Amino acid sequence: MDGKKLAGEKAAEYVKNGMVVGLGTGSTVYWTIMKLGELVRGGLQIQGVPTSRRTEELATELGIPLLDLAEVDEIDLTIDGADEADADLNLIKGGGGALLREKLVASASRRLLIVADESKWVPALGKFPLPVEVVPFGWELTRRQIGKLDCDPILRMADEAPYVTDNGNYILDCHFGVIQGAERLSAALNQLPGVVENGLFVKMAERIVLGFTDGSVEE
Ligand code: 5RP
Repeated sequence: MDGKKLAGEKAAEYVKNGMVVGLGTGSTVYWTIMKLGELVRGGLQIQGVPTSRRTEELATELGIPLLDLAEVDEIDLTIDGADEADADLNLIKGGGGALLREKLVASASRRLLIVADESKWVPALGKFPLPVEVVPFGWELTRRQIGKLDCDPILRMADEAPYVTDNGNYILDCHFGVIQGAERLSAALNQLPGVVENGLFVKMAERIVLGFTDGSVEE
């Protein structure tokens, strides 16, 4: 069975009438958004805050009313995917390139619920290269600065050109190996002038809904 679909659809049960809901990005939360579309057509009243243009388009097609982040002070619940999650619910995100908006929306949320299949659950973060969003201006210098933190950052490409985020920035995928001090690494990255944000989400997630290929779901 598809663990992503199982987890994604299950998470929609956490959404209640009247909520402002942060809508994450990716192929797992896609199923949550699809389910929410169905529930909205059935009478559920929510307002969504999308974390990417892709999610905005999907939610609009499904008839989910949307708010811009600028219009809200607090989001009741955000549901989003992850590339890795450890036992402390620290995360690596940004495989889909939406980490900056995802972190902004998560930071404005009272609760962050993660949806993932079993492959994302890891004993230690770091096998998945950490995405770091950087400004295009002088990105090579930023890459060298990040490299001094003991990794070899790779510029993410799409169609033989640098991948450009919804915010007009680039992404460097950084292979750090096992990440011991996620909070320290996150702070070290973010204090570099060319870095806009990194994909470590430390102490932000409250719960994870995990879908397994055997058809079970753990919450
Ligand atoms: C996008 C993300 C996604 O949530 C993450 O990449 C997981 O995606 P998927 O559910 O498709 O595996 O952080 O920036």
